[in-house]
Amino acid sequence: MEFPVLTVNPAKVETACFVIPVFKDGDLLPVAAKLDDASERLIGQLIERGDFDAGLGNVQLVPFAPGLAGERLLLVGLGERAKCNEGNFRKALDATFNALAKLPIDEAVTAFNDVPVPDRGADWKARMTAEAALRAVYRFTEFKSEPAPAPRLAKVSQLVSEAGDAEASERGARVGQAVGDGVNYARTLGNLPGNVCTPSYLAAQAEELGRDSGGALSVEILDEEALEALGANTLLSVGRGSAEPSRLIVMRYQGAEDPDEAPHVLVGKGITFDTGGISLKPGAEMDEMKFDMCGAASVFGTVKSVLGLKPRINMVAIVASAENMPDGHATKPGDIIKTLKGLTVEILNTDAEGRLALCDALTYAERYQPASVVDIATLTGACIIALGHHASALFANDDDLALDLLDAGETAWDRAWHMPLWDDYQSQLDSNFADLANIGGRPAGSITAACYLSRFADTFPWAHLDIAGTAWTSGKEKGASGRPVGLLTQYLLDREAEVVATDDA
Ligand code: BES
Ligand code: MN
Ligand code: ZN
Repeated sequence: MEFPVLTVNPAKVETACFVIPVFKDGDLLPVAAKLDDASERLIGQLIERGDFDAGLGNVQLVPFAPGLAGERLLLVGLGERAKCNEGNFRKALDATFNALAKLPIDEAVTAFNDVPVPDRGADWKARMTAEAALRAVYRFTEFKSEPAPAPRLAKVSQLVSEAGDAEASERGARVGQAVGDGVNYARTLGNLPGNVCTPSYLAAQAEELGRDSGGALSVEILDEEALEALGANTLLSVGRGSAEPSRLIVMRYQGAEDPDEAPHVLVGKGITFDTGGISLKPGAEMDEMKFDMCGAASVFGTVKSVLGLKPRINMVAIVASAENMPDGHATKPGDIIKTLKGLTVEILNTDAEGRLALCDALTYAERYQPASVVDIATLTGACIIALGHHASALFANDDDLALDLLDAGETAWDRAWHMPLWDDYQSQLDSNFADLANIGGRPAGSITAACYLSRFADTFPWAHLDIAGTAWTSGKEKGASGRPVGLLTQYLLDREAEVVATDDA
């Protein structure tokens, strides 16, 4: 999809469809007012006659636009002006692009930069517009014999009323395009079934990204033999009951001027199917455990965004991938395994497998002497009980890192909420037989999971994002969300801005 920025007189713009956001109250926004003047008050009259209700998210197609160079108008309700905020802006965008995706048009011109979202500039609005467009045209039809025709929309031009906004809008559109592409890539990896998207499949994806990167991304895959030699036994313990071999996938991006600059490391949970293992899960909705690699998918998506934007930072992306299945070789409750770090773990529940895969990946990250390590995982059902489906849970051993991630989530509108990682919870992981247990009982399940990981993250600034509630949607709209690619990409872009600011000083 293309996202050009236009600064010309709206009445002269030729397009298949003008998208005109309208508040329920007050004057028309600048582009709308200009089009209204040029069309004998077409927009004003539709509103006055009550033919268009500008309630939030309402859309109305006007199939003819006499007096204008555009062929159609799509009026989009913004709701009340006083309630205009980021969430409402996003709702209006989603309504817009869901409607445009159904129309027989290849291109549209939007006027969302006119919308006065408090504290948000032209770059943010352009970014959100591009992301929303890409989200809306996404389809996952690989396994449909007769897929519905794909949306035709391939170009969204963003009209800005102030020429001074053009540059910021262009920058925003560029970021939005890269993030949207990363999000959709993560969604596809998430949506793929467990019999296709295996640890080896993810490894092959990494190699493909490497090949297509023109040298920007180097990829290394550790197979079971290499993991055995290394001593990544807890990662290996997860896949013992599976016919699919486990993999540790490492992708390195060197964008900083100084190749030795400390990298930011992302670590993704890549359990390509989680049956629970011997601690078998109940049957209901178990299919959704194909999404248990969405942490890994978000890492892949972020790598894609980074390759699109080429920030001047160093990054290492690590994916710990296995399939959690029960069979005669499977790890059993009570088994004790030695981690890569050397700590022994009593596995009291084989369904708490994500932390077992991640702990060895975190130890592996140490070798890069990272500036920061962020792991992303669909780690606990308890996280959904705590925060539902809107916020990702954020845990960190470093308050500056926590703030940077919270900020990035706000900017990207892919938000996280800071949870406690107090020492008080650590004793829930005490084991009678090993250095620690892999579960901490029912109370505060997502906190004790984070506590477990923290034992393997004591040598670097580290944060953990539990995305169990945000990585996918259940029910009729079942599908991966691509979160938190927006947050992670923004986090890395902010680190670039920091470096550039220090260089200039
Ligand atoms: N992948 C699951 C967590 C999960 C469950 C995410 C449902 C989203 C929806 C994870 O591996 C798991 O099974 N966690 C257990 C931990 C428990 C055994 C301590 C859980 O949450 O029940
Ligand atoms: Mn599990
Ligand atoms: Zn899991």
